[in-house]
Amino acid sequence: MSEDKGAGEIQPRYGEQSGGVPGNPEAMDNPGLPEHLPRPTDVDPRLAQRAERQIATLFGLAALLSIAFCVAYFAIDEHVFFLGTRASNLALGLSLGLALLFIGIGAIQWAKKLMVDHEITEERHPAVSSEEDRSAALTAFASGAKESDIGRRPLIRNSLIGALGALGLPAIVALRDLGELPGDKPSRTVWTRGMRVVNDVTGAPIRAADMQLGQLVNAEPDILVENEEDDPEGEENLEGHEMLNAKAKAAVILVRIDPKDITPYPGRKNWGIDGVLCYSKICTHVGCPISLYEQTTHHLLCPCHQSTFDLADNGEVIFGPAARTLPQLPLGVDDEGYLIAMSDFQEPVGPSFWERGGEEDRSV
Ligand code: FES
Repeated sequence: MSEDKGAGEIQPRYGEQSGGVPGNPEAMDNPGLPEHLPRPTDVDPRLAQRAERQIATLFGLAALLSIAFCVAYFAIDEHVFFLGTRASNLALGLSLGLALLFIGIGAIQWAKKLMVDHEITEERHPAVSSEEDRSAALTAFASGAKESDIGRRPLIRNSLIGALGALGLPAIVALRDLGELPGDKPSRTVWTRGMRVVNDVTGAPIRAADMQLGQLVNAEPDILVENEEDDPEGEENLEGHEMLNAKAKAAVILVRIDPKDITPYPGRKNWGIDGVLCYSKICTHVGCPISLYEQTTHHLLCPCHQSTFDLADNGEVIFGPAARTLPQLPLGVDDEGYLIAMSDFQEPVGPSFWERGGEEDRSV
């Protein structure tokens, strides 16, 4: 059984005493640090200049490779393959990777060959730095910047600035992959004057007389109906995500209300046909599609957060968190008696967005 040592008793460390630790004659003396030798670049100015040129060359190559990245981004077709790999990916990866590598090698060479070379020993200390240590770190940083000789070596400084600056170019160029700016797309839909309003399930055009009093029909523009025969009028052909976006924004509901119950906003008296009104189906709170209609009160309820719109009163919000009225689509009738839009919505549909502006324009 080993003997307990007294609390607070300081035990000698290995190597602290010449001849080893008492009771352990095999313990080694502290060998200390090897003798410090000057580097070749410390004693030969020609070698120092050569190292400086090598480092500047590495930084210069890094700048060229960053520019090569930008050129490859635009010049290489994404459908071209090289050794079974997409050539653009290969060129972009190699150019950017080598640019970073050369900057890294240049920085290491600079530190190893040219920066001030003195050895520092640091005692172990608690993990949390004291205020003194932090201010000492700042002082050391400032002194390191001074000792790096960056002021005396403008070739290295300028080439490094060029390399780091050029490294920002790929990041800027790659922003192009985020796609085109939305422009006025959030403010408009595919609805145009003369476009038929069709049933969103059957695709059938709708006459006002087809609708019963109190009925609600989910509808959409005829150009979004699937399997439509080729459009003889050359209207917009949409597919993929463009089609889905257009459908989501252009979805509407038709309701038929007794005309005597309707209070049209000034200038909107002729926006309905025999009591048939058309509203956006997208809630102006956060964009849920809505068609929960209570025909006796003419209220349309959004089940997401209970916003309620009065369709007999221009889609006004009468309850819930929605801040804007439901946009209304002006209706007309074509030569065959089918319902058509007289224009796009006069205000953006769906939830508000940052560029939407203030009050909606309710002029006709
Ligand atoms: Fe309609 Fe929130 S999305 S109330």
